[in-house]
Amino acid sequence: MHGGIRAPARRAASTLGGGRGFGYRCLMADHGVLLLGRTFGFRADPFLVPPEEAIEWRERGAVLMRGGLIEAAGEADALIVAHPQARRVDCGRRILAAGFVDCHNHYPQTRIIASWGARLIDWLNRYTFPEEMRFGDPAYAAAVAEDYLDLLLANGITAASAYCTTHPESVDALFAAAERRGMAMTAGKVMMDRNAPEGLIDDAQRGHDESAALIARWRGRGRLAYAITPRFAPTSSPAQLEAAGALFAANPDCAMQTHLSEQTEEIAWVRRLYPEEADYLAVYERFGLVRPGAIMGHAIHLEPREKAALAQRGAAVAHCPTSNAFIGSGLCDVAGLKAAGVEVGLATDVGGGSSFSMLATMRAAYEIGQLRGAALHPAQLFWLATEGSARAMRRPELGRLAPGAAADIVALDPETTPVLAQRAARAESPSDLLFALLILGDDRAVAETWAGGVAMKGGFG
Ligand code: GUN
Ligand code: ZN
Repeated sequence: MHGGIRAPARRAASTLGGGRGFGYRCLMADHGVLLLGRTFGFRADPFLVPPEEAIEWRERGAVLMRGGLIEAAGEADALIVAHPQARRVDCGRRILAAGFVDCHNHYPQTRIIASWGARLIDWLNRYTFPEEMRFGDPAYAAAVAEDYLDLLLANGITAASAYCTTHPESVDALFAAAERRGMAMTAGKVMMDRNAPEGLIDDAQRGHDESAALIARWRGRGRLAYAITPRFAPTSSPAQLEAAGALFAANPDCAMQTHLSEQTEEIAWVRRLYPEEADYLAVYERFGLVRPGAIMGHAIHLEPREKAALAQRGAAVAHCPTSNAFIGSGLCDVAGLKAAGVEVGLATDVGGGSSFSMLATMRAAYEIGQLRGAALHPAQLFWLATEGSARAMRRPELGRLAPGAAADIVALDPETTPVLAQRAARAESPSDLLFALLILGDDRAVAETWAGGVAMKGGFG
């Protein structure tokens, strides 16, 4: 991690909606905390209105956090007058924005990020599956979960939808760690009953029963949500996908996450495994897995029918641009998906993705857009990384710098490295500044991360 900053892990959790408080924060919560700085949010989806009109920017803005929520956002002068007793935290010229939401990643792949030279199936067999085998050990799972959450917070990611492994222990470790930190985490046990090592697979019944037990144990606890997680069609038998569909039908408030049309070899494999289906998405449709709450990772090589069906059925796509470049998967048509009415969020896909930084992930999304001939506007990139991902996860309380939303906030500093500072000094508009930040920034540009109103990185109170 740059700068030796380590997130203050294992802090008492705050619960959204003003649940139990701990220690001094009980006292502080009476009047709230007023963050002062430049504020950046959205009035509208910048894919639906001209992006510049979607931006809500205040040079002297403020955000009042109380009870784990954003109570007010507006002009600093007005909020100081309205809330004279609130504790003030002056963030200077740093940019206060919604915390990043990463709608698809794999916490058990934290230790194998940046593994060389393989395409998807080979990468899974060579690096991923051997590492995931270790997560039956609760101590190992707990250690990686802590490092993973530290890395998320260091990068301003306050919420994520995470894959665990087939081991229920891996889910318990992540949820316990996230609950202690008061973080909004959606996660689930990978269901996988074929085409993977013996020690890593479950079976249709066990995958169902273990998932059901985890849902019963964790759903609705603190800020946690459960995602039914069949890895992808090649590693689940029809019986297992049917069990996943039954779970989703019985628990419609859960998310469902899987992978779709990431690489051409994978698509050919699915065609061989499910020759009776018209295309890849049809496999998931057959088992009731394509509907609101479904998050499809990647979705690069789609047929027109699949694109239309995603929109019509209300399933979302997690765009994973660093991963798509790193594993050589292809160029996702984000603008086309949005134009077709598909919900799209932005995701690191660590460890297929090559960075925990959502700034780097936005940069990769921009570059992939450029390679497709569609330059995404910085407002569109930040929106995908916040509200877009929150919508994909069906968690409307996340990803917005607005009253009523969770107090998950970042303070971004565009003066942390010489190259960024000199470019920021030349910025001609808020969106020009945001663009320089996402192209040149990394975790050093994240000065502070608040999760549920609690400062987790250590730069500011
Ligand atoms: N498809 C199935 N499993 C995975 C995974 O772990 N990472 C990526 N990038 N693609 C997958
Ligand atoms: Zn993935």
